Amino acid sequence: MNSGFNPPPYPQDRLNEIRQAVITSGLNLVDLSIGTPCDPVPEILSIDHVEMALSRGYPRANGSDMLLGSAISWIAGRFGIDLRQDEIAACVGSKEFVASVAQYLRLRTPHRSSVLFPSVSYPTYEMGALLGGCKPIPVPVLPDGELDISTLTPDVLKDTLCIWLNSPANPTGKISSGRKVVELARKYNCLVISDECYTEFSYSTEPKTILEFGTKNVLALHSLSKRSNFAGGRVGFYAGDRELVRYLSEVRKHAGLMIPGMMQMFGSVLLSDQSHVEKQREIYRERLDILLTIIRKLGYVADFPDGGFYIWLADSAAKKNGFEIAREVAMRTGIIGSPGEFYGKSSSQYLRIAAVTSTETLAGIAAKL
Ligand SMILES: Cc1ncc(COP(=O)(O)O)c(C=O)c1O
Repeated sequence: MNSGFNPPPYPQDRLNEIRQAVITSGLNLVDLSIGTPCDPVPEILSIDHVEMALSRGYPRANGSDMLLGSAISWIAGRFGIDLRQDEIAACVGSKEFVASVAQYLRLRTPHRSSVLFPSVSYPTYEMGALLGGCKPIPVPVLPDGELDISTLTPDVLKDTLCIWLNSPANPTGKISSGRKVVELARKYNCLVISDECYTEFSYSTEPKTILEFGTKNVLALHSLSKRSNFAGGRVGFYAGDRELVRYLSEVRKHAGLMIPGMMQMFGSVLLSDQSHVEKQREIYRERLDILLTIIRKLGYVADFPDGGFYIWLADSAAKKNGFEIAREVAMRTGIIGSPGEFYGKSSSQYLRIAAVTSTETLAGIAAKL
């Protein structure tokens, strides 16, 4: 019989019992456990684009010239960084990249096996390490959001394939620079991959990218899922170290990973427009404010995040665990959040709530409280 890998239950499926309890109680269920955008895709996409993009042939695996050209222009406009086309390639949304890159890095450097990631983070960094047969190593996060690299020994670093960063961070909303991690990665010749899918929703600073420290041993990962409410389109890209982009795009071509042609066209149009992003940032800012009011009225504590669209809350005495808080919040408001243990063992006393329902719904809940 099979004695190997057995995937754990998908985290958000573990909330079904709480969802059912809310429905049975007669409350209106407001599921904010997954960070799936709820607002419309910008209206700049038109039927002409559909006609232009319909095609019989296979789409370009690593991204069409049009998509990559728009991504290069967006990076230049947003961050003031000029990239060449061989420093960027497309991925099918960013989750598949997160889940598969460790496996490909390991194939390339078989004598190394460790994958490092923030101890409180998006769970797919760890899952990607497991799927690639690598060793997942959570690294503690300092209060300012930077990784506590003082905990990393030379032995660990010599075995490291890549170090994940995520800024603004899911679930904590912290913004970090990652500069010291980049220096360390260059010293030990491993890779830093900075997941920047929330960068457009930065509130405490202007959006940032790890590429400001140069591209050597560095990749930045981006996605249109959050930026343009385009999670359904599955458009992402990674940019940075030319040699790594070359290797990953070659190996991913063999695996048949490609964004459908029409979605590449849509992605290019969305990347060329900034006005919908500015509007969406203000929508999240307002919702996060209302969510903060709601959770404070319920007696919990949280700060307004530096970035992202999540409220990360705990009870003031830090006594309850995330599942208890989830149940309490659900039974008083109908809101379903994600317990902190989904994001790491060290955050089990937290709950994450995503600002992904209408502002009116949230205002209605706040008013009732
Ligand atoms: C930090 C982080 N990275 C990556 C993703 C994956 O997003 P997508 O695959 O839609 O680009 C998510 C989704 O919630 C996320 O929170």
